[in-house]
Amino acid sequence: MDLLVVGSGFFGLTIAERAAAAGRKVTVIDRRHHIGGNAYSENEPTTGIEVHRYGAHLFHTSNEKVWEYVNRFTTFTSYVHRVYTNHSGVVYPLPVNLGTINQFFQAAYSPDQARALIREQAGEFDVRTAQNFEEKGIALVGRPLFEAFFRDYTAKQWQTDPHKLSGDIVSRLPVRYTYDNRYFNDTHEGLPTDGYTAWLERMADHPNIDVKLSVDFFDASQPLNRKALVGQLPIVYTGPVDRYFDYAEGALGWRTLDFEEEVLDVGDFQGTSVMNYPDADVPYTRIHEFKHFHPERAEVYPDDKTVVMREFSRFAERSDEPYYPVNTEDDRAGLLAYRELAKGEKDVFFGGRLGTYKYLDMHMAIGSALTMWQNELNG
Ligand code: FAD
Ligand code: NA
Repeated sequence: MDLLVVGSGFFGLTIAERAAAAGRKVTVIDRRHHIGGNAYSENEPTTGIEVHRYGAHLFHTSNEKVWEYVNRFTTFTSYVHRVYTNHSGVVYPLPVNLGTINQFFQAAYSPDQARALIREQAGEFDVRTAQNFEEKGIALVGRPLFEAFFRDYTAKQWQTDPHKLSGDIVSRLPVRYTYDNRYFNDTHEGLPTDGYTAWLERMADHPNIDVKLSVDFFDASQPLNRKALVGQLPIVYTGPVDRYFDYAEGALGWRTLDFEEEVLDVGDFQGTSVMNYPDADVPYTRIHEFKHFHPERAEVYPDDKTVVMREFSRFAERSDEPYYPVNTEDDRAGLLAYRELAKGEKDVFFGGRLGTYKYLDMHMAIGSALTMWQNELNG
């Protein structure tokens, strides 16, 4: 073994694939029973519908190098992501755009008229002096849009009273003054034609790559552990950076998600893949309906059943899966301290979402792994 990769998400698999192609013998371990990290998907057994196990994953990128790289392992469908939101029993398009605004105000404003109206409504507070999330949100988009589409949705994401949320959690709130409701602006967008897991497995499918699942790097009772291996060979570590150092500088804060999956005896539950629920009286933040991610599979998917997943959001405890960095001032100070400790770990390379405490889209995780391979490991 020339290289150990801890974690089989997109970051770890990209490193492993590049190293294997360069002739290195690589072992990849993951504490989960499957590869792929949070991008893992599997078919719901009774319907065959592909379910993204850790929440909906949409691939999009404007990075040509990453696009060329990922196309070695999978083709992509022509899926274009759009999201809708059910506020007070009426459905509106997202991100908030001219269609949302005109539907909400029952009007036919031009882009300039809508801009002037929102500017006037936003005048209630000043972004520079706003005292909390609520004042800052109103300063950005005005009270009516803020209360309908942003306030309670954000409070539900954080499970925190909107008055107690810090203004720091928003720097801007997206509003578009056209009818464009395409969710992503990237050059390339689509879903892997044969599903995420086929893509991830093809990345690992090389004679120089050995994948070992259900192996925890911190479990000293098995051979591939931290104590036995650090200092013996290069290690790419993509688990949580605070966990690596036994939380010596405190635990970094994360949000996690809970998912409730249900198979329903209807052909089509909501007519689209993602419906948000921004109101306080609904406990979940959104409902995913997975068959809509793959309209091209209509022939193979059942037309009398569907799979939906309700998503709930909250602060993570240590035993929860960490999903999104909370990034308070304390967290940022802790991260700096961990970065100093990481410098002292000879031949251990910290990468990925958990290893750098940074939200990374898939294309960013892949791009930063390609860069790490080129600049730090391919020597
Ligand atoms: P991960 O995928 O988290 O992989 C890390 C791996 O390390 C995990 O498999 C974990 O089990 C393993 N590990 C941790 N500790 C240990 C240990 N001690 N021993 C062994 N193994 C360990 N990106 C997009 O581009 N589009 C989207 O729509 C999108 N939606 C998302 C929705 C959610 C809810 C989340 C959480 C993320 C989403 N992402 C999306 C981001 C995407 O999941 C990440 O870009 C990707 O997971 C990053 O890969 P990674 O390898 O850094 O981390
Ligand atoms: Na303002």
